[in-house]
Amino acid sequence: MSNLEKTLSIIKPDAVERNLDQEIKNIFLNNDFKIIKEKKIQLEKSDAEKFYKVHETKPFYNDLCAYLSSGPIVVMILEKENAVLSNRELMGATNPKEAKEGTIRKKYGVSIDKNSVHGSDSPENAKIEIEFFFKD
Ligand code: CMP
Repeated sequence: MSNLEKTLSIIKPDAVERNLDQEIKNIFLNNDFKIIKEKKIQLEKSDAEKFYKVHETKPFYNDLCAYLSSGPIVVMILEKENAVLSNRELMGATNPKEAKEGTIRKKYGVSIDKNSVHGSDSPENAKIEIEFFFKD
């Protein structure tokens, strides 16, 4: 059965800073994702805190929010069959050191913080995250 989904993808500051945004977008396009909407923005730390609220009790929360708001990011709505899972497979493990060969994080990730991309972890969170960045 068809399961066309949307997911939220972020190209994080470490990748935008290295001018990898077009290269990463091409990886999505070459893997049959459609980029439905995209924008390049820089978040205030308070916005990053709202976005990552699910992690607020984690020891890395403050550094994570400081990092996401440290420079420009590219946020995108991606669409594909089973987009949430497909994007997570393409990104690879959160820690680039554990990511499989051929994944975005293996290729470009620098550390667990500077792991180049974010992707929604469930269809429910994809809706919430898309709404967060693209309210209209
Ligand atoms: P992301 O998919 O954007 O979601 C939360 C982020 O927290 C994650 O990617 C990592 O970049 C970051 N992070 C930092 N430390 C950890 C950790 N110990 N476990 C999981 N995520 C971490």
